[in-house]
Amino acid sequence: MQAQTPHVAPAKSTPRAFKRLLVTGGCGFIGANFIHFVMANRPGISIVNLDLMTYSGNAENLADFAGSPRYTFVQGDICDRAIVDRLLDDCDGVVHFAAESHVDRSIIDAGPFIRTNVGGTQVILDALRARGAADKAVPRMLYISTDEVYGSLPLDRPELLFTEDSPITPNSPYAASKSAGDGLVRAYHHTFGLDLVTTRCSNNFGPYHFPEKVIPLFVTNLIDGEKVPLYGDGLNVRDWLHVEDHCDAVLTVMEKGTPGEVYNVGGNNERNNIELTRTILQLMGKGEEMIRYVKDRPGHDRRYAIDASKIRRELGWEPTRSAWPRALEHTIDWYRNNQAWWRRVKSGEYRTYYAAQYGKA
Ligand code: NAD
Ligand code: DAU
Repeated sequence: MQAQTPHVAPAKSTPRAFKRLLVTGGCGFIGANFIHFVMANRPGISIVNLDLMTYSGNAENLADFAGSPRYTFVQGDICDRAIVDRLLDDCDGVVHFAAESHVDRSIIDAGPFIRTNVGGTQVILDALRARGAADKAVPRMLYISTDEVYGSLPLDRPELLFTEDSPITPNSPYAASKSAGDGLVRAYHHTFGLDLVTTRCSNNFGPYHFPEKVIPLFVTNLIDGEKVPLYGDGLNVRDWLHVEDHCDAVLTVMEKGTPGEVYNVGGNNERNNIELTRTILQLMGKGEEMIRYVKDRPGHDRRYAIDASKIRRELGWEPTRSAWPRALEHTIDWYRNNQAWWRRVKSGEYRTYYAAQYGKA
């Protein structure tokens, strides 16, 4: 049996300066944006990106950094303890994005979600714990959790928001797997004293978003003159945040967050899906006839809404890139200007998934 780690968490509010971050899942949507953000804003930090390259991982997202001495890509699995151990030797921080991330896929098959989101998170935590037990330096880790761990809010209580103290009541297999990872992070801080911080963010939008998610799916369908599949009555509410604001929050929490703490991140930008769809249609010069109402997602959470006052108050983070609908319009422009990127993504396995999920128009 391993001894408990002697690692002592550093004093509250001591800002960290990292030299080399291990980013897991850096070839996905948010991970890739985070690497762009760090490369642009922290010249003193180099990055090691560990990504398995599942269907949602795309090396093109980081093509700008090929050959950069500050960027190293390692194709591998967070469930592989030997790789994780080796990479931790050189890093002083871990930003853990790697996950199966799509709710609809978790409804089709929860298996990969439990494996990566729970098992993979445990592997990284055990690797950190073992370093402490062996008297090696123990990097800080930030776990990218999600607002979905809080479950759903009712539509008729607009004053209710998720706070960090809201009960954890996940409703989808995806949310349950993220909640389990979130719980493990809490437990490994509490039990072993590891330096762990957690963010729970609302829905992101922006460049490099895999077109199975609603905004890039709808925008790319409309560029191709295809209808957009709106689930159920379209009244479900999400709180939309530009991905760069999320990246800024993640770096802020890495550098300034208190060990063991959870920070909600959100845009204070609630939209129901019909409103979101109409705004996209209007920005793209399309009419309501392009909406195709389809069967609802089973167990579809009604409303997510985040109270992000803690990260604002304690760490000084503010969203500055999420102004609506301008940020959405810029995002649509990105998909108009990067058609080769999403056309490659929408070929292959994606076609099989789309046909199974939505059937024929
Ligand atoms: P994504 O699906 O676009 O990217 C996930 C990445 O993880 C991919 O590059 C994939 O190849 C990699 N990956 C998957 N399994 C792996 C494994 N076993 N080992 C190594 N790499 C693996 O997801 P995303 O939207 O960028 O989400 C990133 C993180 O942020 C996830 O943890 C997700 O739960 C969380 N999150 C997402 C949102 C959102 O709006 N997209 C909001 C809040 C939190
Ligand atoms: O809230 C944070 C979460 O946001 C992240 O943890 C997840 O990783 C991320 O995928 C996202 O989950 P959602 O389920 O909210 O995102 P999605 O884009 O799949 O759906 C957003 C809303 O749009 C939701 O109410 C379902 C609806 N929708 C989605 C799709 C794909 C449709 O109406 N039609 C669709 O085809």
